[in-house]
Amino acid sequence: MSQTILRGRVLSFVSEPQAIDDTASYSYLQDGAVVIVDGKIVAVEPWSAIAPLGADYIDHRPHLIMPGFIDMHLHYVQSQMIASYAGSLLEWLNTYTFHEEQKFSQQGHADAVASAFYDELIRNGTTTAVAYCSSHPRSVDAYFAEAEKRNMLMLGGKVMMDRNAPEALCDTAQSGYDDTKMLIERWHGRSRALYAISPRFAITSTPGQMEAAQALVREHPQCYVQTHLSENDGEISLSMELYPNSPDYTGIYEDYGLLGPKTLLGHSIHLNHRETQVLAETGSVAVFCPTSNLFLGSGLFDRERFAKAGVRIGIATDIGGGTSYSMLRTLDEGYKILQLRGQRLNPFASFYMATLGNARALSLEGTIGAVAPGHAADLVVLNAAATSAMALRMQTVTSLAEELFLLQTLGDDRSIAEVYVAGARAKSVLSGFSAPSS
Ligand code: GUN
Ligand code: ZN
Repeated sequence: MSQTILRGRVLSFVSEPQAIDDTASYSYLQDGAVVIVDGKIVAVEPWSAIAPLGADYIDHRPHLIMPGFIDMHLHYVQSQMIASYAGSLLEWLNTYTFHEEQKFSQQGHADAVASAFYDELIRNGTTTAVAYCSSHPRSVDAYFAEAEKRNMLMLGGKVMMDRNAPEALCDTAQSGYDDTKMLIERWHGRSRALYAISPRFAITSTPGQMEAAQALVREHPQCYVQTHLSENDGEISLSMELYPNSPDYTGIYEDYGLLGPKTLLGHSIHLNHRETQVLAETGSVAVFCPTSNLFLGSGLFDRERFAKAGVRIGIATDIGGGTSYSMLRTLDEGYKILQLRGQRLNPFASFYMATLGNARALSLEGTIGAVAPGHAADLVVLNAAATSAMALRMQTVTSLAEELFLLQTLGDDRSIAEVYVAGARAKSVLSGFSAPSS
């Protein structure tokens, strides 16, 4: 048995905060203890209850211990093309993305980028993520093998794409089906891996491939589904040209039985009333990708509309359309998008989204997303005075809400003091910066 005790301020959500003064939505210990046995949290107590035991502990005071961040949508295979200068989505995909992803036909490249990618996640306090790999099965092997090495709970899958992309990147309806099935059998449920069936989006999948994806979903209801929905005007028009019999973009995925409570729909920006209703009725998840939506000029996510309609939502970086691995940077940009919509997001609701909210959107509450007994000890330790500008501002901070807002507004990887994955230190043991050689 291995036991670790952490001491610090402990913050964890129990429900979605409805307002900045909704203190019932979270538990907060000013001086708390998190007791971890064999990678799981077994107790969360005021320090005064633990101190008499006289056990060894790791002292993280005055920092804030929270559940590790969860990133609901990103592309690990785009790690070396972040910050590519493009006008909008389709140009960006054709000019940079499809070129970059072809490199993942080489196992050595996939292994090296996967390793560097996980280092970035950990540096930024992200302990679970849902990633698109490339269309090459070996990119999935590299992705899940690295997660297994690090004992991380990760979701992802091979992109299925059989048209409107370079031939070297395209599978076929049959090979996409066969490879996905083989990868599900190899990885789903092994260590902490969970598989996401991943038709890239309507533009790059023929109706035949959509049928293959539908068959996979029927045959593997335990798996997730991820795709892109309604990100950009040009994408929407082309999708409707390619699927003229569907009522709207969401209707395409609906027609092929791809919607449901395990379906994650990246972006979901320009939806009509019917589409919003369909998402609510099917329990599908709309995934907000703020830095990407600003970078590619895609549009402004409508959180309030989804909330009113009862649509489940998640939040994500969308690397490499997104511009930062940091969920703190993502929350900040999300806040600004919602400001432009006249929808103010309070800091408790922000941090809820990046932790318990995303865990619920993945139906993984009870396993991750909370600092509570029975949960995996996937944790982040936050320092709100990590830079001189933050330390200066912290001198005037008088409440937890102000501290969280400071963390999301000025924070980045420097605010991540430590990360624990299944109870083991993960950030302080990283070696220094190392770019993969290619
Ligand atoms: N739509 C289809 N593929 C992609 C992708 O790789 N990134 C983004 N942002 N949108 C997409
Ligand atoms: Zn994406």
